[in-house]
Amino acid sequence: MKKVVVHSDQDKGIINPDLHSHFIEFLGSCIYDGIWVGEESEIPNYGGLRKDVVDAMKELEPPVIRWPGGCYADTYHWKKGIGSRKERPVTYNENFGTFERDMNQFGTHEFMELCRMTGAKPWLNVNMMSGSVEEMREWMEYCNRGEETELSLRREANGSREAFLVEYWGIGNEVWGGGGTMTAEGYAAEYRKYATAVPTFSKPGEFGKSYMKRIACGPDGNKPRERVRWTEDFFRALSEYRMPAIEGYDLHFYNWNLNPLEESEVEFGEKEWSQVIRGSLELEEVIREQYDLLQKCLAEIPQGEDFFAGKEKKVDLIVGEWGNWHGASFKSRPALYQQCTMRDAVTTALTLDIFHHNCDKVKMACVAQSINVLNSLILTDGSKCIRTPNYDVFHMYKVHRGARALVVTEDCGDDVYVFCSEKDGVINVNLVNAAYSGYREVHLDLQMETVCIQAFKLKGDEPTACNTFDNPDRVRAGETEFPVGSGNSYNISLPAASVSVFRFRIR
Ligand code: AHR
Repeated sequence: MKKVVVHSDQDKGIINPDLHSHFIEFLGSCIYDGIWVGEESEIPNYGGLRKDVVDAMKELEPPVIRWPGGCYADTYHWKKGIGSRKERPVTYNENFGTFERDMNQFGTHEFMELCRMTGAKPWLNVNMMSGSVEEMREWMEYCNRGEETELSLRREANGSREAFLVEYWGIGNEVWGGGGTMTAEGYAAEYRKYATAVPTFSKPGEFGKSYMKRIACGPDGNKPRERVRWTEDFFRALSEYRMPAIEGYDLHFYNWNLNPLEESEVEFGEKEWSQVIRGSLELEEVIREQYDLLQKCLAEIPQGEDFFAGKEKKVDLIVGEWGNWHGASFKSRPALYQQCTMRDAVTTALTLDIFHHNCDKVKMACVAQSINVLNSLILTDGSKCIRTPNYDVFHMYKVHRGARALVVTEDCGDDVYVFCSEKDGVINVNLVNAAYSGYREVHLDLQMETVCIQAFKLKGDEPTACNTFDNPDRVRAGETEFPVGSGNSYNISLPAASVSVFRFRIR
């Protein structure tokens, strides 16, 4: 029997809801067919946004949605995606083998409408590779300027009198790779201009105040040596002479399942199961390493000579893209389309719990991607739409948003993973049995009088279980039996390859 002791008097901080955020881009069928079908489609839609997908997203209440990329942001020109949809130019997308035309039907206004309907805050990523400082600045003016200017009037003419007030702006995407194959020093030099050109949108009398958040491109989390060098070199270069403003630092981490390259996402045994589970856990070390490096780099920045010499002491660490990337998806049509089994649901739970455990270090994280690409929460095919088991994990884990991340002592070993939070007098306990087979028994000591009020379990009939268009609810989270025990002491039996959430009200 494994033992878990929950210390509800000790916490690691508050879980920022933004850790449950999303990422979408025109890649494969994420946008077209996935989110956007157009007003004239026979598929039910809200002004072109497909109803089933929007309704599913609404239930999840995504805190932030990042768009237009990803790699697509690196060549995306926002002006091609505004104005009458009938007159928008046609461009072409080669990214990751998408090989499709972009009719630019889903642009800034359509994205903002998706955010409005789902209650998400938008994160726009600017094109630093084939775009310009001016193009970025104009996009910001178009979105956020309340006063009447040429661009804000154009926004009004295109349907929105209200400014969008976009807070999060990514300055470049993966600039070490598809975003320009830059060096850290080269990027820092470019970043300086972009960051400095960002308008404040302050009002008279608000000098020095701004809601605008510049998110710089962080390292490739999958390259252990390069990622250390990148962070050190970038901040060293950025802090020479006067340092530009920087509010966020966006690290990307994919759990690559490429051994062998054509590794299937649906056909696997215990060895491949364990490989993927282990891979997902590496992110914790990456976050801790990058957080420590960030603090060290910030502490080493020399103090400027006067009041105006900027010195940023706080930069939020963000994981702007994360998820399982199975090799077989390179040959998928639509591009990077993956099925999601219980293996993906378990790693989704483990990853969200890594963010929860490290909520003092990482402030925002976006799953890659919400629909039809990689670690999807939703899959579509023509008029059909299903929710993957990953969707259920996000849904079950909503209870942790804004909660205190509690300290836990445990001897669970390699198979059982635990995370606990407390909010409004309720202790929420996640228990993941990451073993391929076999039950695991856990004794839970809550150290105070409680009563169990809810219990949910997500489990398939086998580890490879997934939802398909023919069998859309084969794997679905549901209420499960309450643990045996009462007060402060409970025994729980966890089936293999399962994710559970138990909720206890403090008496
Ligand atoms: O999410 C798929 C791709 O992965 C993104 O476009 C890119 O940023 C990353 O390499």
